[in-house]
Amino acid sequence: MNLDLFADKLPIPQVLKPRRKKQGVPYYIVRMQQFKHSFHSSMPQTTTWGFEGSYPGPVIEVRPNQKIKVKWVNHLPVKHLLPVDTTIHGAEPNVPRVRTVIHLHGAVVRPESDGYPDAWFTRGYRVVGPKFERKIYDYPNLQRPTTLWYHAHAIGITRLNVYAGLAGVYLIRDPLEYRLNLPRRAYDIVLFISDKSFNDDGSLYYPSQTDPPTPGVNPSIVSDFFGDTILVNGKVWPYLEVEPRKYRFRIINGSNSRFYNMKLSSGQPFYQIGSDGGLLEAPVVVNQLLLSPAERAEVVLDFCPYMGDQITLTNDAPASYPNGSPVDPNTTGQIMQFRVNQPLAGPDYSEIPARLSKIKPLRAAQANVNRNLTLDRQTDRFGRSFLLLNNTRWTDPISIKPRLWDTEVWTLINRTNATHPIHIHLVNFQILDRQPFDLDYFNKTNKIKATGLAIPPDPNERGWKDTVRANPGEITRIIMKFEPFSGLYPWHCHILEHEDHEMMLPFEIQPY
Ligand code: C2O
Ligand code: CU
Ligand code: CU
Repeated sequence: MNLDLFADKLPIPQVLKPRRKKQGVPYYIVRMQQFKHSFHSSMPQTTTWGFEGSYPGPVIEVRPNQKIKVKWVNHLPVKHLLPVDTTIHGAEPNVPRVRTVIHLHGAVVRPESDGYPDAWFTRGYRVVGPKFERKIYDYPNLQRPTTLWYHAHAIGITRLNVYAGLAGVYLIRDPLEYRLNLPRRAYDIVLFISDKSFNDDGSLYYPSQTDPPTPGVNPSIVSDFFGDTILVNGKVWPYLEVEPRKYRFRIINGSNSRFYNMKLSSGQPFYQIGSDGGLLEAPVVVNQLLLSPAERAEVVLDFCPYMGDQITLTNDAPASYPNGSPVDPNTTGQIMQFRVNQPLAGPDYSEIPARLSKIKPLRAAQANVNRNLTLDRQTDRFGRSFLLLNNTRWTDPISIKPRLWDTEVWTLINRTNATHPIHIHLVNFQILDRQPFDLDYFNKTNKIKATGLAIPPDPNERGWKDTVRANPGEITRIIMKFEPFSGLYPWHCHILEHEDHEMMLPFEIQPY
């Protein structure tokens, strides 16, 4: 479909109010529904899935330590909007096609409220997955203020449910942060980026077959998916009218597979102030900003010198990353436009402070356990290539059992030719370093031989993270402390086509 760029205004997602209090705690009811959504003003409306009738879903906003309860309710139809591959583990013909469970990405929550992939449920809870335990989730919000996002996570169909629209933003906002004097209120804006393709009638397009087709499997999962349009807050290539002043943007990559390497056509820098786990120690000035699926960045942009200008946010990340096809500069190379055409509502007293927060570095020497974990490519029984973590499948016996309160270093050994955004539930981690290694030598001996120096993380990665890019040809070392809950959680690649096709494993934190 041929759609004009910058034809629609950027929607600002509404903040959801709790229904009432339950046991003194704010209680939210959030319904997953099928509805019509306008992705672009010159396209017919599109049948979409989402929360409370919107895509992305409404923003849930809390303060640190403000506990809330959420009931995620499945009001979806029994027929899936998109092609379900029943050869994928967890999506076999004997389970209902439409199943959901919602995970709050980046949140510190008990396992029963984390949205375990096998804890899915259908409409009216008629059928529930083997790990289903409860209808109402508890979110204690005992963590640093940051930008989180919630999304569907049912085993075997996460890529379809998220693509259909089951994703939204969750902010932990700290009033104490106001003393930093960052841009706030109308000048603090969420940018939820995703990519989609549409059929001529406006319906959502998602491939039902590999290229070339997989004999004996129809529909079939694909190894990755890249839409031909880019959306922000649910609109294709929107524009935002801004004042010549500073703004804070909370950018979330909510795409299935697409990475974004963002630049501004004005040549102006991004002042990055936050990563997945909240504020950095100090702002980092970057001219390009790379985000893999599920990563977040908070940035300040200063439009002060640009009155009258139209500034585009562009993307030049190949798909797949980093060795795939280049983007089309006229379509997938564009994200959105800022029109600096609004008069200043008042003087801009906001600042980009020199110090933002304190981050205590975790040191490899403190680790109780070091684990080597491989990222592997294999061929499935239908001849399709797929990916694994540690050459292990989701249903294999669990081999990763950290002890509660232990600090561990995980060395991710990427034996594939692509970057994988590796996400671990419950914990925030720090990136220690990345280092090139000899793949042939590793394949023969199972030992790591470095072929270059260890590279420290980029300055804008030196904060708390829950998703890390593990690049091909490199080992990536991360460090984390397993706290404050024990139990079963998943970790996985956040390219959703990989996650659904076995690039996900459970780990089980052992009570102390
Ligand atoms: Cu954003 Cu396990 O997920
Ligand atoms: Cu998560
Ligand atoms: Cu992957």
